[in-house]
Amino acid sequence: MSNLPKISIIGAGNVGASAAYRVLELNLADVVLLDIVEGLPQGKSLDLSQMVAVSGSSSRIMGTNDYEDTKESDVVIVTSGLARKPGMSRDDLITTNTKIIKEVIEKVVQNSPNSILIIVTNPLDAMTYVAHKVSGFSKQKVMGMAGILDASRFKAFLAMELKVAASEIDTLVLGGHGDDMVPLKNFTSVSGTPIVELVNNKKLDEIIQRTRDGGAEIVKLLKTGSAFYAPGVCAVEMAETILKDQKKLLPCCTFVDGEYGIKNQFLGLPVILSSKGVEEIVEIELSESEQNDLRVSASHVKELCDLIDSSGLI
Ligand code: NAI
Ligand code: 2OP
Repeated sequence: MSNLPKISIIGAGNVGASAAYRVLELNLADVVLLDIVEGLPQGKSLDLSQMVAVSGSSSRIMGTNDYEDTKESDVVIVTSGLARKPGMSRDDLITTNTKIIKEVIEKVVQNSPNSILIIVTNPLDAMTYVAHKVSGFSKQKVMGMAGILDASRFKAFLAMELKVAASEIDTLVLGGHGDDMVPLKNFTSVSGTPIVELVNNKKLDEIIQRTRDGGAEIVKLLKTGSAFYAPGVCAVEMAETILKDQKKLLPCCTFVDGEYGIKNQFLGLPVILSSKGVEEIVEIELSESEQNDLRVSASHVKELCDLIDSSGLI
């Protein structure tokens, strides 16, 4: 391994491997790719190390089934677990993925007690809650990736409609990573021009609905799993912001303690990310209907977490 920081990625499936690819592309860190399936992380790591032989990167990668190799990671990205199939909601994954996250986090914490955890596994907000509870880490050091992905979908659909570069669009999507996520039109603009000046309300509502259904649209097309390229890049966006102490404002799943009138649960909100993890939750002024939508989304996440608590699984 090199002198770069260390990222362990748990789960060498579609999202895990895509995240590893992105870390290598950015020269961001050395990568340990771990999976329960023997050979899978080793094979994918070998392939990725041959990729950088052509594309170039100072990052190194290894594949393993042994948590010893993840020792003293700076950041751990957790993607292990079942993915959605057609007809399944993210919530349908809850029992199996709770067991997997519990087992994984216990081993991660034993080996990297000072790491920052980025959870990707679905149902996202509930799995971030499980990781926080099982790890015993502070609320700053456990977060989930979803808002950046949901915002990337909103941006991509708006870019298609307006025929502009998606990178020129700014937006925020808050709430849980589910059908009741809350895309914010009033915080959406193209190079500073409010979106409501550029797209009529009917079209904007259609695009918002397509954003909410963005994960399901891909599941329906793929038939065997869910999205992975964008999710991998979005998880690494969070890791990069942390490792480079960039203090970006990003929508992330975080522990909420009274902000937005919501208490004692995980939910997607705008946060400042730094080398400490979640530095602060940024409170922006929402309209009454956005605030209501956020409460509805929060109560759905809370129901799932209560279900986990009463199941005795953790
Ligand atoms: P995948 O099926 O391709 O990969 C999952 C990997 O986890 C498999 O290789 C499997 O062997 C491994 N795994 C299972 N149990 C394990 C354990 N106990 N320890 C270590 N590894 C274990 O699935 P994919 O597409 O990579 O998705 C992974 C998860 O991320 C799913 O839950 C999916 O729903 C979620 N997801 C979340 C997104 C988000 O926005 N938060 C976006 C995309 C996916
Ligand atoms: C997605 O939104 C399945 O959560 C995953 O693509």
